[in-house]
Amino acid sequence: MTSSVLDVAAIRADFPILSRKVNGKPLVYLDNGASAQKPQVVIDAITKAYAEEYANVHRGLHFLSNLATEKYESVRAVIARFLGAPDENEIVLNSGTTEGINLVAYGWAMENLQAGDEIVLSVMEHHANIVPWHFLRERMGVVLKWVDTELDGSLDAGKVVDAIGPRTKLVAITQLSNVLGTVVDVKTICAEARAKGVPVLVDGSQSAVHMPVNVDEIGCDFFAITGHKLYGPSGSGAIYIRKERMAEMRPFIGGGDMIREVSKDAVTYADPPMKFEAGTPGIVQTIGLGVALDYMMSIGMDKIAAHEKMLCDYARAKLDGLNWLNVQGNAPGKAAIFSFTLNGAAHAHDISTILDKKGVAVRAGQHCTGPLMTHLGLTATCRASFAMYNTTDEVDVLVEALELAHELLG
Ligand code: ALA
Repeated sequence: MTSSVLDVAAIRADFPILSRKVNGKPLVYLDNGASAQKPQVVIDAITKAYAEEYANVHRGLHFLSNLATEKYESVRAVIARFLGAPDENEIVLNSGTTEGINLVAYGWAMENLQAGDEIVLSVMEHHANIVPWHFLRERMGVVLKWVDTELDGSLDAGKVVDAIGPRTKLVAITQLSNVLGTVVDVKTICAEARAKGVPVLVDGSQSAVHMPVNVDEIGCDFFAITGHKLYGPSGSGAIYIRKERMAEMRPFIGGGDMIREVSKDAVTYADPPMKFEAGTPGIVQTIGLGVALDYMMSIGMDKIAAHEKMLCDYARAKLDGLNWLNVQGNAPGKAAIFSFTLNGAAHAHDISTILDKKGVAVRAGQHCTGPLMTHLGLTATCRASFAMYNTTDEVDVLVEALELAHELLG
């Protein structure tokens, strides 16, 4: 195992699943872009919450309800610290990025956009940051303006800024492509958009896993994250919403907990962020997310980023040596996410099946990025996406497995 800024052996020991075998081979888990594995502290926190501290939150006047509420609510401050948000009341808790972006679409954009207004997007957005805007196109006549990636997979921040016109009311952009690994200069986009009075939503679903994030420094209006990619439970997540934008929003999902008073004729709402959190939430999932973020912060996001850069450079050099492999996206400073096809007609699903036989887990398909696949002229790729617990030895196993796939399918 190549040494790095992290004690990777110790980190791997924190993740019980990493010591299991798959198809008789040690697991090499390279599907972190889809979902990351969970450290023991998160698994223990979930068990403890259910075994000892469980009740519904915000409702009871009994001991367990108060305890669960305290544990659940304390996560808001952890997320604010993780994201560099000035005020924990700017954090709305939810089930993940998809819900966060839908909240912005229904709660903010439907209130503040009209037919003919524009939303600027990049072609490499995930469907979670596309489909909610299509809803507005279909229902309200909002216009989607697309910015293409460059040949190397980079996204020119200047082109995004240039796409902002007099009718643009929102820029909705990822900070890190789940397919190409491209990191976007969202800080420049936010500064220029702000100067033109246009809010920016950043999809931080992938980026917050791999690099330090500070929403205050980025200058965005909305920043969405999802817990299951952040080594936390599925069904947890959050969105940072700048206070001024919260004031412009109406609630999206109605129900218990988000109201002040309800009568037959009227309803008044709780103050934000509760106004945007209806019904019984993912109590234990959110508690687990808080533990996962504390775990990441105790390791240090700078160190995680440095380790993954080392892995990325190592994998890049190895994969570049395979002249029958086409890696999509080679932008400077890209994250350790490699989407590829083989020369010839080998299907991504067949490649991933062969890798799986060698214990290597990757994702195959279009990765919820239809417009990007069209832009690249592809129907599917295989994707190896790395995390803090991966090693250079695992890159070597991936390369060996790819050589076998090439031999069998090439
Ligand atoms: N968004 C996840 C991925 O890229 C599911 O795989």
